[in-house]
Amino acid sequence: MAEHINILGIESSCDETAAAIVTDGNDIKSSVVASQVEIHDRYGGVVPEIASRAHMEKIYPVIEKTIADSGLSPDDIHAVAVANQPGLVISLMVGVTAAKTLAMVWDKPLIAVNHVHAHLQSAMLGADKIDLPAVALIVSGGHTSLYDCESALDLKLIGKTIDDAAGEAFDKVASILDLPYPGGPSIEKTARDGDPKAIRFPRSMLKKDSLDFSFSGLKTAVLYYCQGQDMKAPSQVESMSQKQIADIAASFQAAVIDVLVAKTKRAAEKIGAKTVLLGGGVAANTALRDGLKNMCDTSKLNLLVAPRNLCTDNAVMVASLAYHKFKAKQFADLTLEPKARA
Ligand code: KG4
Ligand code: ZN
Repeated sequence: MAEHINILGIESSCDETAAAIVTDGNDIKSSVVASQVEIHDRYGGVVPEIASRAHMEKIYPVIEKTIADSGLSPDDIHAVAVANQPGLVISLMVGVTAAKTLAMVWDKPLIAVNHVHAHLQSAMLGADKIDLPAVALIVSGGHTSLYDCESALDLKLIGKTIDDAAGEAFDKVASILDLPYPGGPSIEKTARDGDPKAIRFPRSMLKKDSLDFSFSGLKTAVLYYCQGQDMKAPSQVESMSQKQIADIAASFQAAVIDVLVAKTKRAAEKIGAKTVLLGGGVAANTALRDGLKNMCDTSKLNLLVAPRNLCTDNAVMVASLAYHKFKAKQFADLTLEPKARA
């Protein structure tokens, strides 16, 4: 019987310090995520220097707990993997340095993965067989990307945002509406009591065949709606009823989802996809999951969605993608550096 491959994955690209041990790419032995949400909440967003310091504090305790929870010892681990791009460089640096150090001390191969590609693994996890080609939609705080996916390692970027990412739009609109950080879950919760048809916010589809996204116009439309076009005027949010705020949240959410679903459908038609994969923090959104499911049912496409707890940043997805790189012998060396952009 072939030997099982255990990989330690490390993630520190934004505001979660995470480590996980995954066997053969999909058997999760342990997963630990230390979130910094409370630390950044009072600033309404991630402050890079504070994020980096928090990673420094948490990285080794998180790795130690991951190893302890797995019941494995460092001798059982075949490789150390880390997301080295894209992200906040001073945050990535903490995970990269920890991974390099462990790889050197344990004398194990080092594997570098792309954080956005890793998000896709959360959707593939546990799937026996995926009908290819697949179109993958990754929606996070930093990215809104469509990929033509031939395998875990063979991804072609076919569409991306030309301004704000979908999650970024959720976060900014939550801030306009005075809702707590992170904005995605706050908007989703508030939108439950609202009418998605109350306000017709713009749906930017760009050119007829474009697979790119633009969300900054939508964000500005919400801002104008709340403040009027005179930006010196005070925001009217304070005097709005809860129902009015819920209607704005629901109408904004519906506009984002309409665009995401329409572009995914367009991409699937373009590449003749049989399957749609959905991952990234915004994929935790129930209305998006439902919207994409309806489209896939109507268009006779298979849909694989990341489990909700693996949509936002985690290290399972890093260790899982690294397994495919391990098999393909795609290793990094100890000069590995973090990169802001992939
Ligand atoms: O993937 P992720 O954890 O980090 C990045 O790689 O960016 O995504 C975080 C983003 C944030 O913008 C957050 O507001 C959004 O995902 N998000 C959501 C939901 N949960 C998290 N957006 C909409 N609905 C949600 N339920
Ligand atoms: Zn992410």
